[in-house]
Amino acid sequence: MDIDIIKKQFRDKFGDFGGELYTSPGRVNLIGEHTDYNGGFVFPGAIDKGMVAVIRKNGTGKVRAWSVDLQDYAEFTMEESDLPKASWARYIFGVCREIIKRGGNPGGFDTAFAGDVPMGAGMSSSAALESTYAFALNDMFFLGIDKFELARIGQATEHNYVGVKCGIMDQFASLFGKEGNLIRLDTRSMEYKYFPFHPQGYKLVLFDTAVKHELASSAYNKRRESCENATRIVRENGHPEVEFLRDVSMDMLYAVKEKLPAEDFKRAGYVIGETTRVLAVSDALERDDYETVGHMMYRTHYGMRDLYEVSCPELDFLNDIAKECGVTGSRVMGGGFGGCTINLVKEHLYGGFLIKAKEQFARRFGHKPKVYDVVISDGARRISQ
Ligand code: GLA
Repeated sequence: MDIDIIKKQFRDKFGDFGGELYTSPGRVNLIGEHTDYNGGFVFPGAIDKGMVAVIRKNGTGKVRAWSVDLQDYAEFTMEESDLPKASWARYIFGVCREIIKRGGNPGGFDTAFAGDVPMGAGMSSSAALESTYAFALNDMFFLGIDKFELARIGQATEHNYVGVKCGIMDQFASLFGKEGNLIRLDTRSMEYKYFPFHPQGYKLVLFDTAVKHELASSAYNKRRESCENATRIVRENGHPEVEFLRDVSMDMLYAVKEKLPAEDFKRAGYVIGETTRVLAVSDALERDDYETVGHMMYRTHYGMRDLYEVSCPELDFLNDIAKECGVTGSRVMGGGFGGCTINLVKEHLYGGFLIKAKEQFARRFGHKPKVYDVVISDGARRISQ
């Protein structure tokens, strides 16, 4: 990303530069999908693509914001009633509001920002945006908020100003990312552990279908409701100790099968399986056993396709090709309904996989998938100028 363009456009809009530069990345997730709002484990890492913002205090109560990518301007106060119309501006507004709700007092600022996380590709461009501003405002206005709470501020922005009832994974990864490391996070206790990830002889690559589904956020929220419903039914039927779906075993789920809508039963079955797969992957990583990691990734894909039903023909097609090419692990990444597959592939198979996937996908769907090498990078930070 060209930071000079952001600086130049900031100057053009707001006069002299004199601002601070902040950045926060998107993320990948090795495994642990749709577990984060079920108190389960996830395994993300920050990537080398993200959002960059120039921010300068303006001494007023107003935010004046310029989106370099969209060439769009918004201006708003931080009053609840001043919700901006532009959806991109709501992320910044939401972060300000959530800070204020927690007793923080950010002053007004001028800002220009741009990003190179592809939108809708399942790499969390929105968490990158939220985390950039949460981190930056905390730093610039000396608010003293810790990084866990900054992640919750981003998450609450999604809940309250965007309408997606997401978990904490994306914002956490964007803030806590560390170069060369994946992070296993327990989303209930918020305990986390860095796992250096340098799989010798393998590459981790993303294939982006460029499919975006309009209804993804309502379908996402519906999945979450199914999980909460299943959890509640188990709790009310002899298991008062159950807090999240993470606490539910397959046996416990089967015991209430007749009391649950078939759809909720399927969704819950996927999440219970996924929770055990994340733990199997973290054990396998301790032994450098990438075959097991890959096997679990395929199982996650099948679960997301058949039980959670968040895949799509384009993603399934790429997954099938990966399997045919002998790719070690492949699956839909992130919330689903389009976006990317994440692939763990032996280096010597990579070239053949790439050619076959691009050609066959283009023949079937009329365009080539985009390919991104995963470079696991640091989380939110101020950039020196
Ligand atoms: C989206 C959400 C996350 C998580 C994933 C699925 O990225 O923002 O909280 O639920 O989907 O794992």
